[in-house]
Amino acid sequence: NKKGFIFDLDGVIVDTAKYHYLAWRDLANELGFEFTIEQNEMFKGVSRKRCMEILLDIGGIKATQEQFDNWMVEKNEDYLKYIEKMDESEILPDVNRVLDFLKKHNMSIALGSASKNAQPILEKVGLLSYFDTIVDGNNVTKAKPDPEVFLLAAEQLGVKPNNCVVFEDAVAGIKAANSAAMISIGIGDKNVLSEATYNFNDFTEMNVDFLERLITN
Ligand code: G6P
Ligand code: MG
Repeated sequence: NKKGFIFDLDGVIVDTAKYHYLAWRDLANELGFEFTIEQNEMFKGVSRKRCMEILLDIGGIKATQEQFDNWMVEKNEDYLKYIEKMDESEILPDVNRVLDFLKKHNMSIALGSASKNAQPILEKVGLLSYFDTIVDGNNVTKAKPDPEVFLLAAEQLGVKPNNCVVFEDAVAGIKAANSAAMISIGIGDKNVLSEATYNFNDFTEMNVDFLERLITN
């Protein structure tokens, strides 16, 4: 049985959540209110448009469609400045080890992210060549927790959903993987990601025994 391994990007492969946060905070400050790192938790795994809606709710701001669109563009341009200088030093610990293990065993690997900036980020950190397919914010219409992004990734890999494993740091992403009938692996706080099939704080905790079981079972 062919297996597929689907990785979320932000918070799993690279810690871009901090740059998303800075860019949203810059916009909030410009609009005259604060945006805290705690509030940023709600933005993880959530599409850019939905984040914009939540931000305006936090600030109690009513925007015209034109303002809404302009502010989203502004946030993204700001974010792009933050990620411009990214390189392989920003790959999270042991991501390379796990990707190398999967490649060595000829596993199919996909990216399943809500971000429209996924491909350039993978290029900057030098990981693009590991991925057999990339499904991101440019290919999907329904955001996590909808399973669309992961189901499309499975389809493109030619692997049945129940033979797929998803690595996720967001609650919405774990829910999406579960409703796609995939094995979900929470990367981060297990109290937050309690719905995941398995939990790890980060990839350094994932030993070879566990990886071998994943690729054989
Ligand atoms: C990921 C991040 C979210 C972000 C979304 C869209 O899911 O966790 O915080 O809002 O991607 O990213 P983008 O790069 O398209 O604005
Ligand atoms: Mg994420």
